[in-house]
Formats: sequence, structure tokens, C-alpha cells
Amino acid sequence: MKRDPAIRVILLPKDTNGHGTIFGGVILSYIDMAGAVAARGVGPHKFVTVAMDKIVFPEPVYVGDVVSFYAEVESIGRTSVTVKVRVEAQRFADPSVTVKVTEATVVYVSVDAGGRPIPIKGGMPKTVDFGKKKPAGRPIS
Ligand SMILES: CC(C)(COP(=O)(O)OP(=O)(O)OC[C@H]1O[C@@H](n2cnc3c(N)ncnc32)[C@H](O)[C@@H]1OP(=O)(O)O)[C@@H](O)C(=O)NCCC(=O)NCCS
Repeated sequence: MKRDPAIRVILLPKDTNGHGTIFGGVILSYIDMAGAVAARGVGPHKFVTVAMDKIVFPEPVYVGDVVSFYAEVESIGRTSVTVKVRVEAQRFADPSVTVKVTEATVVYVSVDAGGRPIPIKGGMPKTVDFGKKKPAGRPIS
């Protein structure tokens, strides 16, 4: 697993459930985003999430924890990319302690403008049509 996280965040009181710990759905959302960052490395496709495997939360996450989402492409299919995401929390109360929060396998599918699956290999688009808006800026490398 890569040691550079796709996403690293400090979770806030707005991210909590009714008991004051972090709401699981917030973590799920970041998992989806982190996996999408890794999938984006495959190419500029329009990816949609088709599946996320069973997710277990053996440890709670607390407000102020620094939470890292590590994501790595596991496999590339005809139209899909499978990404493994591992989540770790560095505790606010004791930064020397980092716990594994959960891990997930997320599958993204490359789709065309109509939302239908399109092949990744051989059909790799040079650009993505996100509508009328053209991306601004120059490459940084
Ligand atoms: C993603 C979507 C276009 C796939 O349509 P589909 O008719 O299932 O397409 P296919 O059967 O051709 O499968 C396409 C790929 O997805 C994979 N796939 C489909 N269902 C899957 C599942 N439950 N788990 C894992 N992979 C799956 C297939 O294995 C295939 O991969 P491959 O081409 O690399 O072999 C369609 O299901 C969809 O639009 N889903 C909604 C996506 C979305 O909006 N996500 C956000 C939810 S809020």
C-alpha cells in the first residue's frame, strides 16, 4: 500500500454522530473519494462507483484525529478499476498512536456521456467531456 495518502483530513465536530464520535458515513464518503483519486491515475475517464465491499469499523474515530486514506489500484478490468483503500487515524489525544480504522475495496466503472460502461483499454479518451466548461491552467510538470 502506498505511504502517500490520497487524502488526509482532520475530522471536525460537524462530522460526528449523536454520541460525539465520527459518523461512519463520513468515513465512507472519504473512502469513495480516495478511491476515485487512485482511479483517476488510470486516465481521465468519467468514473462512477459501482461497488464497495463489506466495511467493518473495529475502532472509533474521534474529533481532532488526523485520518489518512491510502488508496492503490488493485486491478484494471475491461471497463472497471478496483481500488483498495486503507484508513488510519492518528489520535488527537496521543499523536504517537495510529490505529487502523478500516479498509475497503471499491470498484469504479468508466462510463460514457450516457452513463454506459466504456472500455478503459483501447478506448482511453484523451480528454473528458464535462460539459461546456474547459479546464483552465497549465500542467505543473
Ligand atoms: C456502473 C454502471 C454503469 C454499470 O452498469 P452495468 O450494466 O452493471 O455494467 P456491466 O455489467 O457491463 O459491468 C461493467 C463493469 O462493472 C463491473 N461491475 C458491475 N457490477 C459490479 C459489482 N456489483 N461489483 C463489482 N463490479 C461490478 C463489471 O464486472 C464490469 O467490469 P469489467 O468491464 O471491468 O469486467 C451502472 O451499474 C450504474 O450506472 N450504477 C450507478 C453508478 C452510480 O451512480 N454510483 C454512485 C452511487 S450514488
